[in-house]
Amino acid sequence: MNILILGSGGREHTFAWKIAQSPLCSALFVAPGNAGTSQIATNVAIQVIDFEAIKHFVVSTKINMVVVGPEDPLVLGIYDFFSKDPALKEVILIGPSKHGAQLEGSKEFAKKFMQRHDIPTAAYRSFSKETIQDGLAYLENAKAPYVLKADGLAAGKGVVILEDLEEAKTELKSMLLDEKFGAASKTVVIEQFLKGIELSVFVLTDGKNYLTLPTAKDYKRIGEGDKGLNTGGMGAVSPVSFVDEAFMQKIENTIIIPTINGLKKDAITYKGFVFIGLIKVEDEPYVIEYNVRMGDPETEVVLPRIKTDIVRLLEATAKGTLNTISLEIDSRAATTVMLVSGGYPEAYDKGIQITGIENTEGSVVFHAGTTKKDGKIVTNGGRVLAVTSLDEDYKKALKKSYQNITKIHFEKMNYRKDIGFDL
Ligand code: AMP
Ligand code: GLY
Repeated sequence: MNILILGSGGREHTFAWKIAQSPLCSALFVAPGNAGTSQIATNVAIQVIDFEAIKHFVVSTKINMVVVGPEDPLVLGIYDFFSKDPALKEVILIGPSKHGAQLEGSKEFAKKFMQRHDIPTAAYRSFSKETIQDGLAYLENAKAPYVLKADGLAAGKGVVILEDLEEAKTELKSMLLDEKFGAASKTVVIEQFLKGIELSVFVLTDGKNYLTLPTAKDYKRIGEGDKGLNTGGMGAVSPVSFVDEAFMQKIENTIIIPTINGLKKDAITYKGFVFIGLIKVEDEPYVIEYNVRMGDPETEVVLPRIKTDIVRLLEATAKGTLNTISLEIDSRAATTVMLVSGGYPEAYDKGIQITGIENTEGSVVFHAGTTKKDGKIVTNGGRVLAVTSLDEDYKKALKKSYQNITKIHFEKMNYRKDIGFDL
C-alpha cells in the first residue's frame, strides 16, 4: 500500500515510524513532515488543509491510504472531500466525517451529543452575543472557579478558568463581544468546574465496532508541578497507573460504549480515532472533551505499546471489520519527554542546530518541530523532540529518557524534569 500521513509533528513522526514497520506498507509519504519523517519516509511540501494539492498528489502517486494527524483538515471536511470525489472515493481516509469532527470542532455540539446520549460530563450552558446578559447573570449565580470555553477551534487556547467573578465576566464579554478567539468564540460554553485527576482514553472505531487503545496522561503546563502556561504537551505516560480494571470498565460502560452507540444513532460517519479527555472525580469518570484525532504527545507513548500491525488496524477501520481484530499491547510502560525551544509557549527562535540525537541508546527520538537546513537538523517549532522509552514501569522508562536527553543539545533547550510526578 502507498500511504500518506498528513501533519508535521511528533504524532506524525510516530505514525510514520509505526507504519514503516508494517509489511503492508510499500511506500510512505508525509505532508509536510519534519526532519525525522524525512529519514523514514518521503516528505511532500503540501499543507494539511490544501485539499486540492493533496488530491493531486494522492491521484498522481496512487496513494491507497491517507492518515490524518491534526484536527484542522478533519473539521474542514477532508473526509467528505474524499468520499464525494470520484477520483478519491476508493482511497481510504482515516478520520471522521465533517459531521463527526464537530465533536472537536464545536464544544456546544459535543455537549449536546453527550447530553443526548447520557454521557457523564460537567453541567453547562452556552451563550452568544445576543444572550450575553443571560450569560453574565448565569456567572453571578454560579460558583467559582468559572470555566469558559470558546465553542470552536482555538489552537488549544480557548479554555479559560478563572477564580474571580469580575474577571470571568470581563472574559465572557471579551470572548463574545470582541471575538477574542475570532469566530471560535461567537458561542461560549460555561461549564461546572470538575475537580479531579485527568487522563486520556483513545478509541479506534469503524463507526460500529471499536478497539480501546492504551490509556495515557499528558503534562500540559510548561512548568514543573503543573505550573505556568499551557503548552501543546510537555510529556506523557502510558498506561495511567491509577486506572485499574474496575475503573476502566466504568469508562467503557458509561463513556466509550455510549459514544460509539451515539455515533450510530445519530448516523454520524466515523472511521478513525476518538481521543476522550477524562477527569476522574472521586471514583467517577467525566468527559472533559472529545478530540477526533490522536493526541500529541500521547501518540508517542500509545503507538509504541501497540504490537498489532497498525496498517492492518487502519485497513479494518476503513472496511468496518475492527471486530475481527484483537489488539496486542506491550505490557511495558512508555514515557515521553518533550524537548522544547527556550521561551516556548511564548516567543522562541527557530533554526537552531540540534546535535547528539545519534548518541542516544535505548530510546526512540521522535521529531516534532525540526527541519533540515544545509544538511543539518535544526529547530523549527516550540516543541522540538519527544524522547520515548519503554521499560517495566514508567519510572524506569523515564530514567532512560532523561539519561538520553543529556546527550542531546540545542541552544536554550528546555524540558520538564518531573513527568509522571503525580502518579
Ligand atoms: P479542553 O480544551 O476542553 O480539554 O480544556 C483544557 C483544560 O482545561 C483541560 O485539560 C482541563 O485541565 C481544564 N478543564 C476543562 N474543562 C474543565 C472543567 N469542566 N472542570 C475543570 N477543569 C476543566
Ligand atoms: N496533548 C493534547 C492534545 O493533543 O490535544
